Parts: sequence; structure tokens; C-alpha cells
Amino acid sequence: MTHDLNEGKKLAGCTALITGGGGEIASAIARRFSEEGADVVVGDVNFEAAKATAKSITESGGQALAVLLDVSDPKSCSAAVDATITRFGKLTTLVNVAAAVTPDGTVETISFEDWNKALAVNLTGPFLMSKYAVPQIRDAGGGSIINIASQLGQIGVPKRAPYSTTKAALIRLTTCLACDHADDGIRVNSLSPGAIDTARSLRRFGTREVANKARGPLYLLRRTGTVDEIASGAVFLASDESSFMTGADLLIDGGYLAFKGGIEAKS
Ligand SMILES: NC(=O)c1ccc[n+]([C@@H]2O[C@H](COP(=O)([O-])OP(=O)(O)OC[C@H]3O[C@@H](n4cnc5c(N)ncnc54)[C@H](O)[C@@H]3O)[C@@H](O)[C@H]2O)c1
Repeated sequence: MTHDLNEGKKLAGCTALITGGGGEIASAIARRFSEEGADVVVGDVNFEAAKATAKSITESGGQALAVLLDVSDPKSCSAAVDATITRFGKLTTLVNVAAAVTPDGTVETISFEDWNKALAVNLTGPFLMSKYAVPQIRDAGGGSIINIASQLGQIGVPKRAPYSTTKAALIRLTTCLACDHADDGIRVNSLSPGAIDTARSLRRFGTREVANKARGPLYLLRRTGTVDEIASGAVFLASDESSFMTGADLLIDGGYLAFKGGIEAKS
């Protein structure tokens, strides 16, 4: 008698395609998805980083494939979905994580190229990936799309117009896709992290200690978050535990947005 090792796991039977899969949050999501029984495809413009994520999963006994993926290129997005079907036979779950790093500045200083890059990766990327993934998820009998947005998509932020604007638009794209594909059995939600201890956020501060000292007090929980705390939210949104959730934004921000008024009152 054979025993299904994935039996009882939250994502047993899922095949997930995760963009930006070489990045820190995406690789944490990929590893957790695998631990919960999913087959995983990780796509990234940084192919070496994607391969490292896939290797860490296969070395732990999971099933993973790395693909070279530029989410701003329609052909590359289509090819990543095709590669998923070729390798695993289906796609049930799309997680859009890839995001561009854009310089801080105002409209006077942000270049046309950097503005367009933010739009192309942070917003057009999830549009294109969804375009090619939706028919496959529908064919698989339904599933879930998760768009990694940001707490900064909810508020105006000094000098971060490309990032904040594209994340706000991604939250709205999420609600529109949820409307369009509920009848296909596809739930579409966004997940908005607060500041997470990653190189992306540490590049502003240099070290984790400096980052936490500067940002911790802005959070009700007095610290920044971890990649595992975001991965937990992604597992929830991908699994049947969130079966009555679509078109929602799951805010995992240590109370940052709730506390904004507190900061005002204290200062
Ligand atoms: N780190 C944080 O504090 C934080 C906070 C809120 C939201 N987020 C969001 O979480 C996500 C992941 O953040 P992270 O800190 O892990 O970032 P990261 O920079 O480690 O990962 C981003 C990944 O996207 C890849 N990428 C960039 N352009 C791409 C493209 N055109 N096609 C495919 N891949 C591309 C990069 O190579 C990188 O591996 C992003 O969407 C980010 O906006 C992060």
C-alpha cells in the first residue's frame, strides 16, 4: 500500500507559479508552499537566484522547477505558464511577487524610464501573468491568485510615487480580477506586507539593527516583520482556509497603518 506524503497538508494537490521567486519573500513563500504539499515553479529575471530557491526545495524533498522569467515581457510570462504545465500538468495557484527596485524621488527627479519600469514590473507583470495563468487555473477546476502589494499601496508616501502608486493599483487590479473570475472558481486576493527584514528594505538603512531602531517605533508591535510571517499569509490565501475570501487585501503590517493616528497624536 502506498502512502501519500502530502495527505492532510494545506496545499496538497496545488501547483504554484511564483514570480520573483529568487527574492527573499518569494523564496520563503515557495519553501512554505512546498512544505505544505505544493509543487512549485519559481520564475525570476535573476535565473541563478530562482535556481537557488528551487534547489533548496528539491534538496528538502519537494518538487520545484526554476524558470527564467521577465514579468514585463508577454512572451516570457506565457512561456513560464507553459513550462509549468509541461512539468507538472496543471496550474492552480499564481503568486505575483516580483517588483522593481526604483530610486526614490519626486516627479521632478524620477526619470521617465524608472517610472515606466515600476509600472511594467509591479503592475503590468501581474496583469500579464494573470492573463496566461487564468485559463490554466480555470481548466484545473479553480484556484487562487495572490498579488503581493504593500502597506505603502494604502497611503501617500514621500518620494516613493512609483512604488506606492503601482502597489495601490495592484490592490485595485486584484479586486477587478476577483470580480471577473469568481465564476471560474478563481479567488484573487492581495497581501500587503509592512516593512520586512530583507535586503530590499535594508538597503535604505545598511543593517538590521539600524533598520529596526529607525522603523520599529512606527509599528504597534515595535518591530519589522519576517519573511516567514508573509509566507504564512500566502499559505492561508492559497489554501481552503481562506475559501470565503476573494477581492480582499490581507494586511500583515504589525499595526503600522492602524498606528498612523497614534504617531500623529504623540508628535
Ligand atoms: N521587503 C519589504 O519590506 C516589503 C514590504 C512590502 C512589500 N514588499 C513586496 O514584497 C515583494 C518581495 O519583496 P522582497 O523584499 O522579497 O524583494 P526582492 O528584491 O528580494 O525580490 C524581488 C525579486 O523580483 C525579481 N524581479 C525584479 N524584476 C523582475 C522581472 N521583471 N521579472 C521577474 N522577476 C523580477 C528580482 O530579481 C528579485 O528576485 C515585492 O513585491 C515587494 O514590493 C516587500
